[in-house]
Parts: sequence; structure tokens; C-alpha cells
Amino acid sequence: MEETSLKRKVVLTCAQPTGKLHLGNYIGAVRQWVELQESCECFFGIVDMHAITMPYVPADLRKNTYMCAAQYLACGLDPDKCSLFIQSNVIGHAELNWVLACLCPLGQLERMTQFKDKSRKLSAGGDVSIGSGLLFYPVLMAADILIYNADIVPVGEDQKQHLELARDLAVKFNNFYSPTFNVPEAYIPKTGARIMSLQNPEAKMSKSDKNALGSLYMIDSPDVLRKKIMSAVTDSESSVKFSPEKKGISNLISIMGAVSGKSVAEIENEFAGKQYGDFKKAVSDAVIAKFDPIRVKYEELMRDKAYLESVLKRGAEAAQRRADRTMSKVYRKAGFVDAVRGSK
Ligand code: AMP
Ligand code: TRP
Repeated sequence: MEETSLKRKVVLTCAQPTGKLHLGNYIGAVRQWVELQESCECFFGIVDMHAITMPYVPADLRKNTYMCAAQYLACGLDPDKCSLFIQSNVIGHAELNWVLACLCPLGQLERMTQFKDKSRKLSAGGDVSIGSGLLFYPVLMAADILIYNADIVPVGEDQKQHLELARDLAVKFNNFYSPTFNVPEAYIPKTGARIMSLQNPEAKMSKSDKNALGSLYMIDSPDVLRKKIMSAVTDSESSVKFSPEKKGISNLISIMGAVSGKSVAEIENEFAGKQYGDFKKAVSDAVIAKFDPIRVKYEELMRDKAYLESVLKRGAEAAQRRADRTMSKVYRKAGFVDAVRGSK
């Protein structure tokens, strides 16, 4: 019998190995993961199989996977408190993807916002063929979640539609076969955690920003961080006040709040009567104080691939144990005969 009430909640989340993580990723995602590992049983996946749904370079994927793992650990993910693993290292994600795909209506996948956006961009860029993996992306994501029977799934706003599909598929499976999957809940960080580009405060800070000065990366050197913050776009006034009309300075106030733990009011008071230049200098100091120890730790980890691999191996083994329990149920319910292990 499962004593769910006594058990810690199971958290699962994944991210694509995008290489360098920016301040938005830190505030909107990684920071929450570091907190959650204290109270929940956490599985964090680096989804390399999702990364190949768009055109890519294998050598970059390999490097980015190590980089992401090292950055997560440098931010405080603790291998003794959570399982950090690479998706392709755990057998079952692709297998469950297949079983779920057979339950998932094609039309539902074709209507997904992210599929439409990404396929439109590929066609506009002259790509003649769009791989069907892109269409199945949300089903693989549902498999990532359901294979661990997760209770809670931390995701950004943009992934809500995909999480809904995972919930639908859990219910469909449970109804068609028999109760098997938990129906997971999204965990979306509070609003206000949306960090905007330093060069265009109307747009989210994002890796795909064409302007290299728009994003603050946690592994940028202190000089680079300072240069980017000092040249952040602001308005022509000079009072450090949070306001929807002053998006540039408001974004810097949010950043200051997020890295220093101070409230907006505290920041406004502290900088009353000061110039933007003084404030930007203080924001630079605060961001550097937060990121520099992370960068140093990251560089140390990147020099020790054997250690990184040992952490990822341990994470994959724990993930595999949980995935195996789910998959043996799923295959049995699907009616697959296991002639290798035999029927018991
Ligand atoms: P991405 O790799 O851009 O999809 O980002 C991974 C996660 O980081 C998202 O699901 C969000 O939780 C978070 N994130 C990304 N960009 C931002 C941003 N500009 N502000 C806040 N959170 C962000
Ligand atoms: N699609 C998610 C993103 O781009 C990444 C992802 C893949 C994920 N599988 C997942 C997130 C499972 C949460 C749970 O952000």
C-alpha cells in the first residue's frame, strides 16, 4: 500500500540544454528548483531528446548538456538532495511517448501553439521539411512527466498548454486502461518574475535575442555583466521608481529585487534622489555578487567531466528505478507480452 499522505511530493521538471543560462532562467526556474529540493523528492531532466526536434549540431548539443549540468550544480542543485539526469540516459521516456502517442489525437498536436510557431519559423527560414519529432514534442514531454508519476511540474507560462496535454493524456490512459497515472499540477512561479531584455524592455530576456547586450548570463565575466547593465536602455527621466511607463528602470528594479531579496519599496527608498547611473552601478554590484561565485564554481565543474558524469549517472539510476516501475505497469496494461522476463 502506498502511504501517499506521508510521502514527500514528487517534483519533475526538465529543460532543454540551451548552453548558457541567463538571469531569466535563474529567477524564473533554477532558483525555484533549488528551493524545492529541500522539501520534495525532485527529478530534474536535461532533455536532449527534445533538443533534436529542431535543426542542431551534435557537438554543440554534447557541450551544452555538460554546460547546463554544471550551471545547475553551481546554482545549488545538490546531488544528495535531487536527481539530476539526462533524458536520453533513462530508458522509458521514448517508450512511454509511443504508448501515449497512440492515445493522442493528431489534431490536438497540430493545434499546439509552440508547434505552429516553430514550424512557421522553420518554413519561413527556408527549411523544406519539418521533422515529425517537432509535432510529437508535447507527447514526449507528457512521457517525461508521467513516467515519474510527478505531483508537481514547475514550468514557465509558455509550457502551460503542454502541461494540459500531459494531464489529458494521463486521464485518457487511466480511463482507457485503468488508473495508473497521477494527474500532475503545474507550478508556475509568481508573476513579477518575468525578466525583460536590457536592450528592449518590451521583450523577454531570451537566448534568441539578437542583441548580445540584452541578456545577462550567469557565466558572463564581471566586466561583461557590468557593461551590459550600465548600457541597459532606460527612459529620459532619472527617478528610480517602478512604473508600467518606465519599463527599462522597472526591469532593473525587478532584477535588483530578485538578486538582493529587497522589496521594490526598499529599493525605491534607498535610491530616492539618486541618478540612474548610481542605481545601475548598484545593480551591477548585486548581480555580480550573485553570479560570480556561480561562475567560479561552474568553471571548476567544467574542468572535471568525470565528476559531472558521476553525478548524472547517479541521477539517471534513481530516475531509472522510478521509470521502470511505471513502465512495467504500462506495458502490462497495454497487453504487451514480456517473453524476456516472463509472465508471473
Ligand atoms: P527557456 O530555455 O527560454 O525555455 O527557459 C526555461 C525556463 O526559464 C522557462 O520555462 C522559464 O521558467 C524561465 N525563463 C526563461 N526566460 C525567462 C525570463 N525572461 N524571465 C523569467 N523566467 C524566464
Ligand atoms: N518543453 C519544456 C521547455 O521548453 C522542457 C520540458 C521537456 C519539460 N519535458 C518537460 C518541462 C517535462 C517540464 C516537464 O521549457
